[in-house]
Amino acid sequence: MKNTHFCKAFITFASLFLVFSCKNDQANSKPAIAADKAIEAAVERTLDRMDIREKAGQLVQITLDVLTEYGQDVKPVQLDRVIGEYKVGSILNVCKAAPTRAKMEEIVRAIQDKSMEAIGIPDIYGLDMIHGATYYKEGTFFPQEINLAATFDPAHAAAMGKAIGYETRAGLVPWVFSPVMDLGRTALWPRHWESFGEDPYVQSVMAAAETRAIQGSDPNHIGLDHCAVSLKHYLAYGNPASGKDRTPAYVTEQDLREKYFAPFKACIEAGALTVMVNSAAINGIPTHANTKLLTGWLKEGLNWDGMIVTDWADINNLYERDHVATDRKDAVRIGINAGIDMIMDPYDPAVADDIVALVEEGKISRKRLDDAVKRVLRVKYRLGLFDDPVWDTSSYELGSAETVQSALDAAIESEVLLKNTGGLLPLSKGTRILLTGPNANSMRCLNGGWSYSWQGSGTEEYTEQFNTIYEALKARFADVRLVEGVSYDNSGSDWQADKAVDIQGAVAAARGVDVIVACIGENSYCETPGNIDDLSLSANQTALVKALATTGKPIVLILSEGRPRIVREIEPLAAAVVDIMLPGNYGGDALAELLCGDANFSGKLPFTYPKYVNSLHTYDYKVSEHRETMEGMYNYDATMDVQWPFGAGLGYTSFEYSDFKVKNTRFKAGDVISVSLKVKNTGKVAGKEAVILYSSDLVASVIPDVRRVRAFKKVELAPGKETTVEFSLPANDLAFVGADGRWTLEKGEFRLSSGGLSEIVSCTKTKVWKTQNIK
Ligand code: BGC
Repeated sequence: MKNTHFCKAFITFASLFLVFSCKNDQANSKPAIAADKAIEAAVERTLDRMDIREKAGQLVQITLDVLTEYGQDVKPVQLDRVIGEYKVGSILNVCKAAPTRAKMEEIVRAIQDKSMEAIGIPDIYGLDMIHGATYYKEGTFFPQEINLAATFDPAHAAAMGKAIGYETRAGLVPWVFSPVMDLGRTALWPRHWESFGEDPYVQSVMAAAETRAIQGSDPNHIGLDHCAVSLKHYLAYGNPASGKDRTPAYVTEQDLREKYFAPFKACIEAGALTVMVNSAAINGIPTHANTKLLTGWLKEGLNWDGMIVTDWADINNLYERDHVATDRKDAVRIGINAGIDMIMDPYDPAVADDIVALVEEGKISRKRLDDAVKRVLRVKYRLGLFDDPVWDTSSYELGSAETVQSALDAAIESEVLLKNTGGLLPLSKGTRILLTGPNANSMRCLNGGWSYSWQGSGTEEYTEQFNTIYEALKARFADVRLVEGVSYDNSGSDWQADKAVDIQGAVAAARGVDVIVACIGENSYCETPGNIDDLSLSANQTALVKALATTGKPIVLILSEGRPRIVREIEPLAAAVVDIMLPGNYGGDALAELLCGDANFSGKLPFTYPKYVNSLHTYDYKVSEHRETMEGMYNYDATMDVQWPFGAGLGYTSFEYSDFKVKNTRFKAGDVISVSLKVKNTGKVAGKEAVILYSSDLVASVIPDVRRVRAFKKVELAPGKETTVEFSLPANDLAFVGADGRWTLEKGEFRLSSGGLSEIVSCTKTKVWKTQNIK
């Protein structure tokens, strides 16, 4: 059995190598990051003085638990083993939950002292700072990426990136595993909320803004207010066929390049220094073994000199889970030869011995070893760690008033009003409110995973100073009564399970109020523990809303959740619906401001909200997926029936679109298409509107997507005011990946549209690009 695995692995690897060789001619000629001569020379000098054990150690990353024996203090004996003996070059993670930044500083200082003494090379410490400095006790927590996408304003992604870079550095950590780039295209997947929604363009714009803000403007010299990013998880991690975390994806070549690769390309071009790999497999090939994607597309295709790190234990997964390697050593051989530069083992530093042996046996070439080591050293030099392995942190201020205001502003613009029958909202401050549901009084539910701890559990210990929805509503409305009716069991490990504690009590309490605000959805979770089998909202929460509806009181549903749980049965019972997703520590305050009308809604859904558990769609489906009934005796129709479409979102005012104009309606590759339109605030209050420009390819040689987002801009208008929004759309953006795998802009008609207005434009000449990337 073992032998069969070995043969298969060898054949897969060999064929990957062939594909990769054929692609070598397709690389970008311009480097993604222009090399700095002084840094390159220093990297070479350092490499020259390293022996093979030191080189191997630089390719290994270990979790902090190993140094601390699961406690909070770094143990000298463990430092001697991990850094002294194995020369390990990187440590990650926190123990259990968020330390204070002073504690983090103490940990990193001990590691750096040992690294400099034992190997003369600084460690690079990495943390999952996902929606702010979310692994420090005092970090500022922004809304999760899914919420930031709903703002349709990259300024919010930039504000979060700035806070992540600066606040993380305050604890002596120079590297963050952010932004998340997976695209939330599979609603069941437990990491749906970690990305900027389902659209590749929105993901590209937001993540590139975040990347620039985390790293600063010069990727060769990352200052002390910034960190290196790790774009994750390359590639197509967010599309598992089963909807379960870390299970295989099956993706067409077209979608891989057009939708999944494009955001990575945008961020690499924005200067991203490192990339983390998709734990799972694409089209049957574990991504950690995929030479074509790692070395071919990413390193060579983009001419990128950055570093690729594995995800957690994913070299081990090549043999333990995926059966493409016979043992760990074989897995290390496959991974490093495919293009991996750093192995997040994360528990066994002796993986370095495997690297040494493989090099000595000629199974990893010295050239590949040196290339990987140089990529690791280059990041350390670019971060300035050789000069300053540690630095003075006394002037850093976490949670400054300005940063907190940015997090609150982002939360306000991220909560999406989906229904408001008869203008029920805003509620006057004298409204008597029954607040109910398991999410009504929980900071954990507002934050989601990666918040103080991996699962977002234990949040209450840290969040005394922040307001739950209940606390925030009490501060704005005179009469708020809380009867949860249903609650989560936070004591065990089955956090998703809820129980009906007092549905009848909630119903009774509703009789004396004007409005019911029901906060339903999900408890926090992350990765595999968040796997579920059924996207439906829980039976208890559904029963709660149904019981409340019998009172005849108007219901406002607050959806507080990381992925869109099916609410088809109860949506008609609600007069108003707000999807707040995971708005972070200031999300309760934001909701209170919005519900009372002190602020106006302007968020729009960055994903398609499904209506049925077995009909999960994205807005850019193929035209053939939605058809009217055919003529004749067979009914070959197909329908797209969703709860709320991508881009849905109301406010307390109305906007009118007019004068949609395209200057150059006939164009060819290389041209820029100029589009303008007018937007007017026709309501009575000020508001913001995300203006989204779509294109539809009317006829193409592969079935076209029904529409694609090509640009967006957020405008703010006082009542009665009008503005002209202009877009400059590169014609090349209308290209698609053809059946032969080449980027193609085809002659023919396209519809450009925004806000219900549209114009037909024509490409006058077909162009097929020779290289794998357009620009
Ligand atoms: C996750 C990554 C994370 C890594 C380190 C993995 O389980 O998939 O997103 O960066 O752990 O914590």
